[in-house]
Amino acid sequence: MNTFEKIKDTGIIAVLRNLDPDNAIEVAKTLVNNGVNVLEITMETPNAISIIESINSEFQKTAVVGAGTVLDSETARTAIIAGAQFIFSPTVNIETIRMTKRYGLVSIPGALTPTEILEAYENGADAVKVFPVKTLGPSYLKDIKGPLPHIPLVPTGGIDIHNIQEYFEAGAVAVGVGSSLVDLHLKNEPVFFKNIEMKAKDFVHNFR
Ligand code: 3PG
Repeated sequence: MNTFEKIKDTGIIAVLRNLDPDNAIEVAKTLVNNGVNVLEITMETPNAISIIESINSEFQKTAVVGAGTVLDSETARTAIIAGAQFIFSPTVNIETIRMTKRYGLVSIPGALTPTEILEAYENGADAVKVFPVKTLGPSYLKDIKGPLPHIPLVPTGGIDIHNIQEYFEAGAVAVGVGSSLVDLHLKNEPVFFKNIEMKAKDFVHNFR
């Protein structure tokens, strides 16, 4: 299975934003060990590059690790050299798509309108992150799929265990999930990791 097939197979990209570098690896392990094995480390996370390297060496065969919030091609290249297997962005930046495809990796830029979504896809994106999808909801995704049925969409923002199924029914190939998997409000509480474990199991077993 190639990286894009693995992303579609898992269906969930865990968006790991602003993790504490001291426990980032532990968070990643908890997710992977409970079936969420596609992880996106957002680039503003302190030590994002070394986290990507560590997860890659720890879970060479079992996890797919990518970089998120990649806004320019220089950042994409740095993340790729560190081992990122996909590049996720909130915006469309053509140079970032080109850089990712130059290395033969998976490019998932972010867009909201049909024009932006088509532009991203026609410039080489493998799929388009529909972001922020929260306020528009699953029906928006379905509306996009009408005229653009050939473009794989990855809605992101506000997705939780209660609405995830609706996004797949509306045509998502995968979804990005952040705070409903890793609740940073609990980061100093003893239940932090147990909560991640429960949420991961819930997502893996209760959709599709
Ligand atoms: C993000 O920007 O962190 C992602 O869009 C995830 O958003 P979420 O926390 O609402 O899932």
